[in-house]
Amino acid sequence: MDDKVKKLIIKLTHRFPKKESAVLPALAMIQKRSGRIIEDDMEEIARIMNLPEARVFSAASFYSMLSLKRIGKYHIQVCNNIVCSLLGSESLWDHISERLGITEGEITDDGLFSISSVECLGSCGYGPAMQINMDHYENMTVEKTDYIIDSIRRGEWWL
Ligand code: FES
Repeated sequence: MDDKVKKLIIKLTHRFPKKESAVLPALAMIQKRSGRIIEDDMEEIARIMNLPEARVFSAASFYSMLSLKRIGKYHIQVCNNIVCSLLGSESLWDHISERLGITEGEITDDGLFSISSVECLGSCGYGPAMQINMDHYENMTVEKTDYIIDSIRRGEWWL
């Protein structure tokens, strides 16, 4: 973690009555900047906030929008929970997987995409739900997903 990021994290801690409330914003910032969170990042956050490392690790490993592994520049998460499954998320997942030629835990050769199947994304009334990086999508269809993937590949979709 470079000094600039450390300073940003320290700044974040001043926004909250308790320093530890800045754990998630700090992790989200690192995720956005680096595409994943490594052990050194968690150790540094723990040091800055004077917390046990396990506390930071538990937050980083709990939320599906944060990743401890290398992922694609655009990480697609598809909800696999019951409501979205009933609304077609399994066939949407299959389509994305086939279209990109990857499955859970894999990254496309160009490093652009990775996919994962996740638990409820909190849009049960508007499934199938999907998320790309921190952006949330509802009522997804194969056509909408293809449009987004094509737009990303053409550099016309900003996240
Ligand atoms: S079941 Fe998919 S968002 Fe809740």
